[in-house]
Amino acid sequence: MKGFDVGVVGTGYVGLVTGTCLSHLGHRVVCVDKDEERVRELESGRIPFYEPGLEDLVSRSVREERLSFAGPGSLAGLTGEADVLFIAVDTPQGEDGSADLSSVAAVARDIGRALSESETPSSKKRPLVVVNKSTVPVGSGDYVSMLIRDGLEEAGGGEANFLVASNPEFLREGSALYDSFFPDRIVAGADSREALDTLRALYEPVIEQGFPTELDPRPKVAVPFVTTDLVSAEMIKYAANAFLATKVSFTNEVANLCELVGADVSEVAYGIGLDERIGSRFLSAGIGWGGSCFPKDVAALRAVAREYDYEPFLLDATVAVNERQLKRVIAKLQRELHTLKGKRVALLGLSFKPNTDDLREAPSLKIARALNSLGARAVGYDPVAGKKAMELAANLKVVFDPYEALRGAHAAVVVTEWEEFRTLDLKKVSDLMEEPKVLVDGRNVLDPTLALQAGLFYRGFGRG
Ligand SMILES: NC(=O)c1ccc[n+]([C@@H]2O[C@H](COP(=O)([O-])OP(=O)(O)OC[C@H]3O[C@@H](n4cnc5c(N)ncnc54)[C@H](O)[C@@H]3O)[C@@H](O)[C@H]2O)c1
Repeated sequence: MKGFDVGVVGTGYVGLVTGTCLSHLGHRVVCVDKDEERVRELESGRIPFYEPGLEDLVSRSVREERLSFAGPGSLAGLTGEADVLFIAVDTPQGEDGSADLSSVAAVARDIGRALSESETPSSKKRPLVVVNKSTVPVGSGDYVSMLIRDGLEEAGGGEANFLVASNPEFLREGSALYDSFFPDRIVAGADSREALDTLRALYEPVIEQGFPTELDPRPKVAVPFVTTDLVSAEMIKYAANAFLATKVSFTNEVANLCELVGADVSEVAYGIGLDERIGSRFLSAGIGWGGSCFPKDVAALRAVAREYDYEPFLLDATVAVNERQLKRVIAKLQRELHTLKGKRVALLGLSFKPNTDDLREAPSLKIARALNSLGARAVGYDPVAGKKAMELAANLKVVFDPYEALRGAHAAVVVTEWEEFRTLDLKKVSDLMEEPKVLVDGRNVLDPTLALQAGLFYRGFGRG
């Protein structure tokens, strides 16, 4: 394969994974970040976050000279060379709930300026395809086009030889490489056939599953390549995340009813999940969702609705149910411990989900804050996110061994379903804890009978 010249702006969870995977497919990729320290770290082979398998793949692509890194100011050169330029920068939640597009806007303007300043080799048949991979609200494609033109004008003008496309990302932190090589679908939105054809050619090896990888455990089945107009692609991303968040909140609503009537939500979820129309995934009851995507994406979709004076009842309820789940953790502790003042509570798992060190909107930090305000001492353990948590949460004592967290604790909460918590030595846990030895299983991952036999006061979610 001849391969494309690709630029990726933003080397976070999405940008770095995207750039690395594209380089593995045979494209020549330069990943750019405004954070010089991050670029230096990447150049010396260090990955700034935890993602299984990524470090090896990055170093392989760098060694084979298909992947390199560049700091701020490198866009001019890159814009001249690249066939495709991904925008993969952060779009955090703004104060009013809407997506904060300032990073995307800054990059779009920079691209415009770079287009004005750069020289495209005569060998390149262009336009440059600028691809929004960041999660951005409906209409952002046109907004990016406008800002690129603004940047171009500001820098003295030149040929506006670019197209804008949307290519939302669906990777899950913790299995990001797998999700990139074996996605359920690739969505490409553009108002130009040429941009869609370029994206199809770029992803051809993934679509046809014809690329070298030892990650390949599945029979080769072509990956659906979904092409839409710009705004529909942008909407697909928000709708997908809002649906998944709603599915979890729905399960939690059912779990709370199960607690009232004495039913077991795990059995209920199994029973309904076998219906293909429902599907068995994302039917786990517990503390609820957090993380870098669901909270801000659901908030952004609600903000879009408000822009049109539309009341998104279902999305509002999805959020309300989720917020209530966190309060239920505290309520379960209060019911058994009565007062939380002076109590030590172990938090098992701090990252917002297993196999990542991402703490953005992590339930653990909210629980720690709530415990702190009620006079309890929260002690947290996480297999990989401990150091980051220490920097972020002053009200949380972080230790680096699960049993250390449990020593002297009056209660423990399983906050994140890391695999290692499923095999905790419950007898040892019980021996280490102080009465009344309450174990709130926030992810329903432990066996209640074994916990009770070990002398722990087990409380799950929706388990009768
Ligand atoms: N993290 C996920 O699991 C995930 C999944 C799907 C989609 N997304 C979306 O992808 C986007 C990126 O998410 P992320 O988690 O990778 O973010 P992140 O915060 O981990 O990384 C963003 C990177 O962009 C860089 N950046 C910001 N402004 C820049 C600029 N002007 N020039 C160059 N670099 C710049 C930052 O320094 C940072 O390294 C967001 O819109 C997010 O919603 C994230």
